Amino acid sequence: MQADDLFCFQPVYEHLAAAGHQDWADEIRGAIESAIALDQHGNLSQWMEARRQLPSGPKSLHVDDGRIVVGSAVMADTDVLREQLMGFHPWRKGPFRVGGIDIDTEWRSDWKWNRIADHVEFRDRVILDVGCGNGYFGWRMLESGARMVVGLDPFLLYVMQHEAIRKLAPAGAANYVLPVGDQLLNREARVFDVVLSMGVLYHRTSPVDHLQSLLKVLQRGGQLVIETLIIDEPGQQVLMPEGRYAKMRNVWFIPTLEMLTLWLQRTGFSRIEVCDVTPTTTDEQRSTDWMTFESLPNFLDPDQSSRTIEGYPRPVRAVLTARAAR
Ligand SMILES: C[S@@+](CC[C@H](N)C(=O)[O-])C[C@H]1O[C@@H](n2cnc3c(N)ncnc32)[C@H](O)[C@@H]1O
Repeated sequence: MQADDLFCFQPVYEHLAAAGHQDWADEIRGAIESAIALDQHGNLSQWMEARRQLPSGPKSLHVDDGRIVVGSAVMADTDVLREQLMGFHPWRKGPFRVGGIDIDTEWRSDWKWNRIADHVEFRDRVILDVGCGNGYFGWRMLESGARMVVGLDPFLLYVMQHEAIRKLAPAGAANYVLPVGDQLLNREARVFDVVLSMGVLYHRTSPVDHLQSLLKVLQRGGQLVIETLIIDEPGQQVLMPEGRYAKMRNVWFIPTLEMLTLWLQRTGFSRIEVCDVTPTTTDEQRSTDWMTFESLPNFLDPDQSSRTIEGYPRPVRAVLTARAAR
């Protein structure tokens, strides 16, 4: 299973062990082995083969106008490389340029990055990014001086997209995507300076349990970044969709800002700041050649774009920061 540096998370385990949490490192290692062995969708070997076929030429990584650029244009036949990268469809978070090929992802994650970057101190920090997708933000954080970024995402396709990017990035880059979910944040282990949870809260059946699990692993005084769908109305309200929200099956609770602030206070966070509130537009989230399924334009009411297709307020997202008060 372990080809070259595929699924190489040793520095993460060492960080946890050095902080006195060898047993947690062992538990996470076991959960990762199980997730890989279980391979719920049965596609892992196909993605591993797609990654194996990627060129292994000169490794490099930089950010160009919000795009993560790895490898160089001369390293492969363009048509072949495009086909290989399409093996990892759908590409949701980005953009990337891989071996000279632009991957125009469903989301302009660079726009989200611009909303958080000025509100967080990344330099020399050890960072946890829960629900990190393919690790796009981890590269941005490394570029902003982070010491190590540990991403968690249970969806193996996104983990493999990250492993594909890593193959062309300089060896030893400290941006990791572990194939596990927030269920593994199950103990008091204050080992992260900054914890991000972006686009995850409304997917959890118990949002307060999610916030508590983030608090448990954050250093005292450490910074939390929460990015979530909100209902952009006054008061302490929460929307629980009756079924789907914007065609998503797994949306449970969408709070107003005041309700989210209360959740954060009750959980043990202080110095709560609202950094940004932005309605999601069809320029930011849309189908592309690299994500050919339906996207936001299909999720809105065609006659009333202020509403989702189910009649709920259309997606508005907020970024909040807070400090671990205890
Ligand atoms: C809406 S995406 C957000 C991705 C990225 N953080 C961003 O802001 O663009 C939600 C991500 O959370 C992941 N996810 C779902 N359940 C999770 C869980 N229990 N723990 C951690 N991540 C989870 C999904 O696989 C998906 O990649």
